[in-house]
Amino acid sequence: MTLNAEIRQQLIDAAVHARRWAYAPYSHFAVGAAVLTTSGKIYDGVNIENAAYPSGICAERVAVFKAVSEGEHQFPAIAVVTSNAVAPCGACRQVLAEFGLDTMILIADDTGKLIREISLSELLPGAFTSKDLPE
Ligand code: THU
Repeated sequence: MTLNAEIRQQLIDAAVHARRWAYAPYSHFAVGAAVLTTSGKIYDGVNIENAAYPSGICAERVAVFKAVSEGEHQFPAIAVVTSNAVAPCGACRQVLAEFGLDTMILIADDTGKLIREISLSELLPGAFTSKDLPE
């Protein structure tokens, strides 16, 4: 799966499209995400909030968990779309790190414009991974 300009835009567009389903009645901050698998599939996700605030979940983790629940473990890239093009939170970086630090993070605004592109290893230096667990 080559991460060319067309695939990049497809991934961002999927995140823009999904974002309409964000369930964010408390923060009013809608997030859309879309993760690409090595097999070329795209899984989208949105943030889903809850009246019990900590029970909510970010868009990126919804997308990754949907993919993993269908047997996908390799993610060349993930797009995240917000009104102000923010980077994934720490918890989402950690969840992504479980599946490799080479994942490219495409950060876009709500018009689908790519604002920043950065690898997970750059966003989460010194990541704790399975290698850090004793045998
Ligand atoms: N949120 C995400 O979905 N992804 C991020 O990377 C940052 C934050 C959500 C969580 C919550 O529903 C809302 O944005 C405000 O924090």
